[in-house]
Amino acid sequence: MILGPQTQLAHLHASKTSIVIDVSSGRDPAIVYWGADLGNVSSAVLEAMVRAGLDPTVGSSVDGGVRLGALALSSSGWSGRPGLAGHRDDGTAWAPALGVDEVLLDAAEIVVDAAAVSAGAGRLRCSMVDPDCGLRAELIVELLATGLIRVRAEVTNEAAEDWTVDELAVVLPVPLQADELLDFSGRWSHERVPQRRHLDLGNWLRESRHGRTGFDSPTMSFCGEPGFDQASGQVWGLHVGFSGNQRCWVERRPEGRQVMAGGELLLPGEVRLAQGQGYRSPWVYAVHADGLDDAAHRVHDWLRSLPGHPATPRPVTLNVWEAVYFDHDEQTLLSLAERAAAIGVERFVLDDGWFLGRRNDTAGLGDWVVDPQVWPAGLHPLVDHVHELGMQFGLWFEPEMINIDSELARAHPDWIMATGARLPVEWRHQQVLGLAIPEAFDHVHAAIGAILDEYDISYIKWDQNRDLIDAGDRQRGGRPVVHEQTLACYRLMDALRAEHPGLEIESCSSGGGRIDLEMARHAQRFWISDCIDPHERAQIMRWTEQIIPPEMMGTHLASPRNSITGRVSELSFRAGMAIWGHFGVEWNLLETTDDEMSRLSEWIAFYKDERALLCTGDLVRRDLGGALLLHGVVARDRLRALYGLIRLESTALAQSGQVLIPGLDDHASYRLRPRLVGNGPERLGEPAWFGVDHEGIVMTGQALRLHGVRAPQLLPDQILILEATRTAG
Ligand code: DGJ
Repeated sequence: MILGPQTQLAHLHASKTSIVIDVSSGRDPAIVYWGADLGNVSSAVLEAMVRAGLDPTVGSSVDGGVRLGALALSSSGWSGRPGLAGHRDDGTAWAPALGVDEVLLDAAEIVVDAAAVSAGAGRLRCSMVDPDCGLRAELIVELLATGLIRVRAEVTNEAAEDWTVDELAVVLPVPLQADELLDFSGRWSHERVPQRRHLDLGNWLRESRHGRTGFDSPTMSFCGEPGFDQASGQVWGLHVGFSGNQRCWVERRPEGRQVMAGGELLLPGEVRLAQGQGYRSPWVYAVHADGLDDAAHRVHDWLRSLPGHPATPRPVTLNVWEAVYFDHDEQTLLSLAERAAAIGVERFVLDDGWFLGRRNDTAGLGDWVVDPQVWPAGLHPLVDHVHELGMQFGLWFEPEMINIDSELARAHPDWIMATGARLPVEWRHQQVLGLAIPEAFDHVHAAIGAILDEYDISYIKWDQNRDLIDAGDRQRGGRPVVHEQTLACYRLMDALRAEHPGLEIESCSSGGGRIDLEMARHAQRFWISDCIDPHERAQIMRWTEQIIPPEMMGTHLASPRNSITGRVSELSFRAGMAIWGHFGVEWNLLETTDDEMSRLSEWIAFYKDERALLCTGDLVRRDLGGALLLHGVVARDRLRALYGLIRLESTALAQSGQVLIPGLDDHASYRLRPRLVGNGPERLGEPAWFGVDHEGIVMTGQALRLHGVRAPQLLPDQILILEATRTAG
């Protein structure tokens, strides 16, 4: 519905969240309120909220106060970082003053009350114009049914001279009481490390210039009430849904305002708009919640509602990377497939090393044909055998990359990204293939398509192993194309999936270097880290799940001695940590003992029995201090739950105290029992409530939540799996 000029305010509210936007004509739209649900409030209340938020008149300040619009235009007097920045070559049109000239609201039940409209979940689109600058813009605010908000903007050049976009970010207000900031950073094999700080005046700016989301991605930035944690405290979270360069910030201003903002990071001159051309920002996601678990649920629920979300039970996967690396030998891999099938593996994935000239990581990228030297009969013998054994077949690609030592680079050197004749510094001996070049895109598309046509392949592990440095298009004088490259990657994924129904894609980027909510709309699984050490993964999984639901996280178990950390861990700890996502094995099963095979098959059977719950339930996470974590998944109907009690280190406390069991229905009774105990070489110090036969204890959800149960004495790197089942009556 088009809203008339009398409409000044739009209020969307759903799933415990409200957002109020000032859409009055002639000014840029402004987010007045973003927070807990206001309910069905009248136009008068909404108007009062606007008035209540106006700046007081103080010395040496903008007369009438600063208007903080969703694009934080400097023309309004905002002297913080602007959301929109750009210019013409002659230095004009750099300070736009955009005014709303049309507002559209798309929602199921719209209530019009005087100067305000209200609705539940819906989409608001505000068009703006600045005739002096020759610019048009649009702001789209969506409140999704799960209470997740997403916002994006678009700017269009209407004048004859080009307009260069320097920045287009959306800016949301956050109350000053939210003065504690949590976000994440990390490095290869050690992703998603939380960092917390008190917010001071100034700008906390996070940038990714990797041409991919980055190991050091903030993941989701949270401002919250002091001391907020997984269970409690109001939090306001922001995430830029983009897999290329990006920027987000939290800014606290002396005049008493605080904002969270985000958008794409554009390289110099990267987006230059000719007359009639527009640039659209990525979606910026915003969530208001009560604690971090609640925030995660809103994102998970939304991803689970998307049509591309994996609907089938997550197949237990074997990936051969850490078993054979580049050493591809048909007989070995056939035997590996047999061992895998024997213990219940359902998907067999052939990783890097199968294509032309790829005997190590210095050659072959770009040549997506099966290497006849290693595979004289093609992949048919292996693929057929895998299928005969009842498993799906998956294959590794790295479509956006090229080795200088490849047929493709020799034939098309101008397809390699560079700013000119000089090639970018190498990274894992490779360069980036310019997918913004239509012929290059078509070539890779056709080459991968041919493999998918020839073989019955259910799954692609889509790798991306380097930063985009000097990412220019040589065919266009070396101009920067990270933006175009990122969109081309999404396009290629979507095209291959559309042409091969049922195909699943795992996004991998040297592990967890490309995990974001836009990639989550194109890929069905994420490889969250190259580090499969369960001790390290406890943290990586926990925080990846802030935005990615468990069924989309590849959680594997590897060999006893981890290839990256050198740490040795028990099979039960490795497996016990791998069940909390999409379970897989990355271990040379030809070297395992019979005992290991039989224990592994028990864990696989356990996973298969429980994956319906593990892959659909609500996440609960608690930090119990002293390097003890509780990780759980509660069924949506609250009938069952599984919890992992994980000890990572020894502490001075000999016992782990009383563990509160959250997430259940307060008024129902549950039997809580140890499901998988034992594991380590030593026995657990078992508490009395385990019962003689491990039958557990019956308590109400409320008693479990408030009083909890005594924890057993766990060893470092030990996990205990607990099950809560609602009792009849
Ligand atoms: C990096 C990935 O993260 C690994 O799992 C593996 O696929 C290698 N690339 C292969 O080159």
